[in-house]
Amino acid sequence: MAAMFLMLMFVSIAEAQVFDIGKYGGKPNSNIAQALTSAFTEACASTTPSKVLVPKGTYNLSPVKISGPCKAPIEIQVHGIIIAQTENDPATTWVSFQYIDHLTLSGGGVFDGQGHKVWGKCGNNNYCKHLPINLAFNFITNGLVQDVTSKDSKQFHVNVLGSKELKFLRFKISAPEHSINTDGIHIGRSKGISVIDSRIETGDDCVSIGDDSQQITVTGVTCGPGHGISVGSLGKYQNEGPVIGITVKNCTISNTMNGVRIKTWPASFPGTASNMHFEDIIMNNVGNPVLIDQVYCPWNQCNAKLPSRVKISNVSFKNIRGTSSTPVAVKLACSSGIPCQGVEIANIDLTYTGKDAPKALSQCSHVQPKVSGRMNPPACNSPVGAN
Ligand SMILES: *[C@@H]1O[C@H](CO)[C@@H](O)[C@H](O)[C@H]1NC(C)=O
Ligand SMILES: *[C@@H]1O[C@H](CO)[C@@H](O)[C@H](O)[C@H]1NC(C)=O
Repeated sequence: MAAMFLMLMFVSIAEAQVFDIGKYGGKPNSNIAQALTSAFTEACASTTPSKVLVPKGTYNLSPVKISGPCKAPIEIQVHGIIIAQTENDPATTWVSFQYIDHLTLSGGGVFDGQGHKVWGKCGNNNYCKHLPINLAFNFITNGLVQDVTSKDSKQFHVNVLGSKELKFLRFKISAPEHSINTDGIHIGRSKGISVIDSRIETGDDCVSIGDDSQQITVTGVTCGPGHGISVGSLGKYQNEGPVIGITVKNCTISNTMNGVRIKTWPASFPGTASNMHFEDIIMNNVGNPVLIDQVYCPWNQCNAKLPSRVKISNVSFKNIRGTSSTPVAVKLACSSGIPCQGVEIANIDLTYTGKDAPKALSQCSHVQPKVSGRMNPPACNSPVGAN
């Protein structure tokens, strides 16, 4: 009786049980796919909190699916450097985490996608689209990803889909500016996702937020190189869910193609995006620092003459300062069919750094923003397309 009581006590105060991949045959410089999935499967079956451990060392890994549901909270602690295969495999994702509640991914480790071996072949866009994403978080709830690096992804670094309450903390993304289609963190059909105190250097959007996303927070993020932080593009597909509640705050964006932007396709399906707030942002040599683009039409893939049917409302850009690498520092190009509503700009101070250095421009169409505080360039001092 006393022994049993002691045992129960022990279980309830015990540290998480550790499942070291070494015990499952995972050795440095070998492919740990089997060892990692075996360790995970056993840990996942544990009824008390567990930890899968990838010790220091360099490992290879072929594409794996780390799938729940698990019986108790689970932490995957990666101390090592994990390297993707370089031969072209048909997987759409290198490492997927899916259907896990209370997942923590931590440990200071690196997931190296070896993208530099394929970016050069990326001339044809279709080829690039089939390259694997580094890390997918599908249907994860109450998750935490902290102190982990995604390096040189072949395509997107991170894709978050169908997840709720997932936090990225001190997450690091690194890939060179010329890497193609390497979005940092793409979030779609998810709720309560936050990216906090993280550094993102990549070749495409640092953070991109797709349809059906709610309560997304991006704070303390440094972005660049890359294409900035964006909502969209929206409206390309039928029945897209609304985007509601985006906060981007206390971020520094440097040497990127865009700053903070909302983009929707012209001639689009209907949709809505509302309550999006961009605040306390420093721009260093950024192209299009503040941008609403409802005529987003890369590669002339659409009929730009028909208006976007995505309704944008309740948007604010506040306390945004620094330098613009393009003459148009602020551009609010809203839909001619459904003008933007409830747009507010306050305390904008952006200087154009070009050689001939004309004054920075602020262009507006189909929007009447509420303006307050310092305004450099003066709000809506030129029509869209004047430059
Ligand atoms: C702002 O972001 C930086 C990281 O860039 C972070 O260290 C700092 O704590 C943040 N400040 C606030 C008030 O959140
Ligand atoms: C926009 O804000 C106004 C005023 O706060 C509010 O009444 C309205 O419902 C909001 N619209 C959306 C789509 O959230």
